[in-house]
Amino acid sequence: MTRLVCVSNRISLPRKSAAPGGLAVGILSALKRTGGLWFGWGGETIETEPADPDIHIREGVTYATIDLRRAEFELYYNGYSNDVLWPLFHYFSKGMRYSNEQREAYENVNRIFAQKLLPLLQPRDLIWVHDYHLIPLGRRLRELGVQRPMGFFLHIPFPNIEMLRVLPCYSELLRDLTSYDVVGFQTHNDLRSFHSGIEHLFGADALRPDGRIRIGDRTIRAEVFPIGIDVAAVESEGLEASATDVVRRMTDSLVGRSLMMGVDRLDYSKGLVERFSAYQQFLETHPENLGRITYIQIAPLSRTDVRAYAEIRQALEQAAGRTNGRFADTDWTPIRYLNRNFPHATLMGFLRAAKVGLVTPLRDGMNLVAKEFVAAQDPADPGVLILSNLAGAARELSSALLVNPYDVRGVSHAIQAALSMPLNERRERHADMMKVLRRNDIAAWTRRFMEALEQTQAPESRVR
Ligand code: G6P
Repeated sequence: MTRLVCVSNRISLPRKSAAPGGLAVGILSALKRTGGLWFGWGGETIETEPADPDIHIREGVTYATIDLRRAEFELYYNGYSNDVLWPLFHYFSKGMRYSNEQREAYENVNRIFAQKLLPLLQPRDLIWVHDYHLIPLGRRLRELGVQRPMGFFLHIPFPNIEMLRVLPCYSELLRDLTSYDVVGFQTHNDLRSFHSGIEHLFGADALRPDGRIRIGDRTIRAEVFPIGIDVAAVESEGLEASATDVVRRMTDSLVGRSLMMGVDRLDYSKGLVERFSAYQQFLETHPENLGRITYIQIAPLSRTDVRAYAEIRQALEQAAGRTNGRFADTDWTPIRYLNRNFPHATLMGFLRAAKVGLVTPLRDGMNLVAKEFVAAQDPADPGVLILSNLAGAARELSSALLVNPYDVRGVSHAIQAALSMPLNERRERHADMMKVLRRNDIAAWTRRFMEALEQTQAPESRVR
């Protein structure tokens, strides 16, 4: 029997409530279906050298976690991953702060991941590495003699070569990606960007007519695998959570007002400042809605040690305060802005209660909250999704109200259109989107990626 081994920086240990963010939710439901091993950082930093992994087994999934040295983690995670790769891959090159020290720590953490994972590997494993923290891991594992099929999936956007070239070591990054047998992206746009990089570095001949990439004697499959959600689970979570105390308290507090909701990690890529401005403009230009709508924005703090995140937090507090100061009444607060997190099921209950879901990132690999919002709705009386056309999810959810997140007036109009949309149109749009969600659900994502990996197995590579 082959075994699936997923590797990611952050892993979602049982009992900890997962922060909104696609990766952990996606991997966990993939692993729950197939069983297997999930290897990653345990969430703690230490002052000594990393020890061997801690192992926990729950519901058929083995969790292996390592702790990392604090100083190194700081440079690898806050530094290279989130102050260099994250802004660059999201097309915010001005926000990037490159240093060689950070890059060395990034390389070193990837080396440690490879060394600690190696003894846990079995001869028939399929190895699936996730996201931008671990791009060099495949090469590191190959250097240690691992010949098993290895895949990499990037959960965030991949930038075009002209943006990627801003990174001093962009060619090493592209080469590292070619150590994998399968490289997966969220959208065709990301795949095209990758092709532009491959062509730049290896020449147009590397791109074969059948879509494969050929470099020397290696063939790489680079394809699109849009990540999905567990539709049935979200439907039932949303329904069941509606009857819980915490969701009831929230809906009772609306006293009949329409609810508009956003759920995002507090991240500058999520477009929250622009979203708050759009809402303010909506209240200004549609004053008949004053006192009739409540906008709840849940934005759990994220990556708080990175400067750009502290700055955006401050900007948002000011923006929410301004709107509330200007429009609130003694019995009405236009924006309820919360920096806390809730269990996933509760969030689904909140989303189900919303007439409007606002998902307006400035750039996003996919955005699973958009998909969850749709699946959590009551099909008989569904809410309306307003979705950024710069989120990967917009490619599939074309029946949402698509907006440019920078276009404050356009988003403000979309809010009005959503609030006044007739029931039959809401139902039709919802039904269209549900079809897509069901077709490309999380099981399909896992199955398609694993099939691609399995197909790369050459008979001689059956041993580790
Ligand atoms: C995004 C990334 C994930 C990451 C998640 C939460 O979804 O693609 O790799 O785990 O954000 O961010 P954090 O930095 O808290 O892991």
